[in-house]
Amino acid sequence: MTRVFSGIKPTGHLTLGNYLGAMRQWAAADQHRSDALFCVVDLHALTVDHDPARVRRLSRQAATLLLASGLDPELCTVFVQSHVDEHARLSYLLECVATDGEMRRMIQYKEKAAREQRRGGSVRLSLLTYPVLMAADILAYGTDEVPVGDDQAQHVELTRDLAVRFNQRYGHTFVVPRATHPRVAARVMNLQEPMSKMGKSDDVGPGIVYLLDEPDVVRKKVMRAVTDSGREVVYDREARPGVANLLEILAACSGGNPEALADVYESYGSLKKDTAEAVVEVLRPVREKHKELCADPGYVEGVLREGAERARGMARPTVDAAHRAIGLLPAA
Ligand code: TYM
Repeated sequence: MTRVFSGIKPTGHLTLGNYLGAMRQWAAADQHRSDALFCVVDLHALTVDHDPARVRRLSRQAATLLLASGLDPELCTVFVQSHVDEHARLSYLLECVATDGEMRRMIQYKEKAAREQRRGGSVRLSLLTYPVLMAADILAYGTDEVPVGDDQAQHVELTRDLAVRFNQRYGHTFVVPRATHPRVAARVMNLQEPMSKMGKSDDVGPGIVYLLDEPDVVRKKVMRAVTDSGREVVYDREARPGVANLLEILAACSGGNPEALADVYESYGSLKKDTAEAVVEVLRPVREKHKELCADPGYVEGVLREGAERARGMARPTVDAAHRAIGLLPAA
């Protein structure tokens, strides 16, 4: 059976981008057709300036939202990265096949390092090695497919390179995984700055729709989305990024396709109104289920405990094999 692995980082409140670009496919498709693991990757949240209590809170919230979005612990494994030591163990072994140059070429590293420096902070070494830990997350489980938004494509490419290099040098150990992306909304853009991704770690802003926003807040944010100077509704990501973003969001929420939807609308106003309602409807069951789950924190804790146990059992044989293959003496 196909092994699927994906993760979400607790660095901010989860957004419509996380949902349409990744979580929705995990719940609707991946967990039903594959042997899937979904992980709150909390170690990754320590790579930039962080508040420990906030990371803990956001980790719990992300896990709750994964379940609220429809992940079923009977069908898939939901767990927290730091509960499974194999991730950090394998990450070090992969650091011994990765190079400094390939880390520095990662687009997200360059962007995030520049942001930290602009804020007057220093860049943590873990920010540089972040993609190696991500590769360890994926490779530890013999993963075939990694369902992610567009922004993670380069990291999954690097994971493939590291797997191939390790296998060539030390003997076949890892499955070489591939990224999969949703048909539409693989990159949801910020409603106020449609040239930038809608990112949860960005400052709170009117351009970001959070999964837990109240319906009226969602409506307000979508109705105030920046559109382009033209008047006609056309789907053109380069020339009309604002309108293209709304068409993609509407297509992702309503099941249509953005080109066909562009022909249906004559004004930006009606496009925004329908997009706002479609987003409210898509998020409604997630918010409701989240509320229910918050009333039963013991249930979420139990899911995470069992998930970590299952994940450990799945990761250990591969990580042990990598340990031996690279030249380390097995513990007696
Ligand atoms: P993260 O936490 O930034 O995002 C989680 C998932 O949401 C997708 N996503 C988006 N998709 C479309 N439009 C957007 N605006 C948008 N914003 C986020 C991301 O592509 C991702 O699929 N490095 C990863 C976490 C990670 C991981 C892994 C993923 C760590 N280890 C192993 C897969 C496998 C990250 O920061 O995702």
